[in-house]
Amino acid sequence: MTTYSAEQVWPPFSESLLDWDEAFHDLMLNDRLRMTAYRQAIFEAVKPGDLVLDLGTGTGILSLWALQAGAARVYGIDLSAPILQQAVVRMQRAGFAERFEPINRLSYQVELPQRVDVLISEIIGNMADNEDFQPILEDAIQRFLKPGGIALPRSTSAYLVPVAAPTAHRNLRAGHIASLTPHYRIAELYRHKGIDSPFNLYYDCILPRSLYLSAPQLVQRYEGAWDQPASYELELCYSLEREEVLTGFKAYFIAELTGSVTLDISGDDIANGETSDSWKHAYLPIEQPIEVRRGDRLMLRFSRRYPREGASFRQVYRWQGQVERAGEVVGRFDQCMEEAALRN
Ligand SMILES: C[S@@+](CC[C@H](N)C(=O)[O-])C[C@H]1O[C@@H](n2cnc3c(N)ncnc32)[C@H](O)[C@@H]1O
Repeated sequence: MTTYSAEQVWPPFSESLLDWDEAFHDLMLNDRLRMTAYRQAIFEAVKPGDLVLDLGTGTGILSLWALQAGAARVYGIDLSAPILQQAVVRMQRAGFAERFEPINRLSYQVELPQRVDVLISEIIGNMADNEDFQPILEDAIQRFLKPGGIALPRSTSAYLVPVAAPTAHRNLRAGHIASLTPHYRIAELYRHKGIDSPFNLYYDCILPRSLYLSAPQLVQRYEGAWDQPASYELELCYSLEREEVLTGFKAYFIAELTGSVTLDISGDDIANGETSDSWKHAYLPIEQPIEVRRGDRLMLRFSRRYPREGASFRQVYRWQGQVERAGEVVGRFDQCMEEAALRN
């Protein structure tokens, strides 16, 4: 069994989405926060006789719940053949094979014979849009969902908050990065992405609320037709509340799965299971920590964009800014996931 502690640094799972193994799917299936919320939401949203699409069905757990709730038919789309095969086996064992249709393709390449009443998906990253769900869900809502049908989740909101996380910072400096299995080697991810400094990437990390230096602020909200832009740049201004050392930012999301079920991953009570094991939070470090004081102003410019045209699952985040005290700049930072070769 994997154990967790606050400020332990893990590779960002969302950045190796095309390469997930069974161990990561097991982690998701044992994530109590995630599973409880999705189960409740699916039983609330799916009515007997409904047609359902489970986009990114993985091992099929959400499809199983939809069928148990009475769905007439569930289409399960997943780009990974071996993982989708596990969904097929799950449905056979549960006696639902006749009502489950596996489709092993990227969703953009799929045509469905009919529109569905409910579109279910769990393709949310810990920063909400770090599994590139915006264009995927916008396309799926437009092409697959009946007018007036239900999209689950119905919205997501991502937040950023400055933190003092000295242990996480030390772990990064020392290269102490935990790994679920040897399959997720951080050096391999740096090489693959052309990342030149460990501080130019975000990490999965549990960052307790006690580390916050200010109140969290909204970054981006997706909802409705899911047509809010996935490339954006915004400026956030934080008033710092404590004398501490700023080491970076925590990002997390709150999703409204249905009108009454909310999934909020910001929690940090590891012992009581209020932390998501599979998402944790995202830690966006800064290379040079900044000593800050109560009343300082932190200006953050945060952006998300694609490295090139049509680059699915390859978003680039940049977090840059400065801390000001009585009109003077006391520290600056600029971290970017863009490949060093392109930046220079
Ligand atoms: C976070 S997992 C969730 C799996 C499962 N629904 C669950 O809740 O345990 C997301 C899955 O979506 C698949 N996926 C993501 N985007 C996809 C797309 N556009 N088309 C097809 N599959 C996709 C991935 O391969 C992965 O198996």
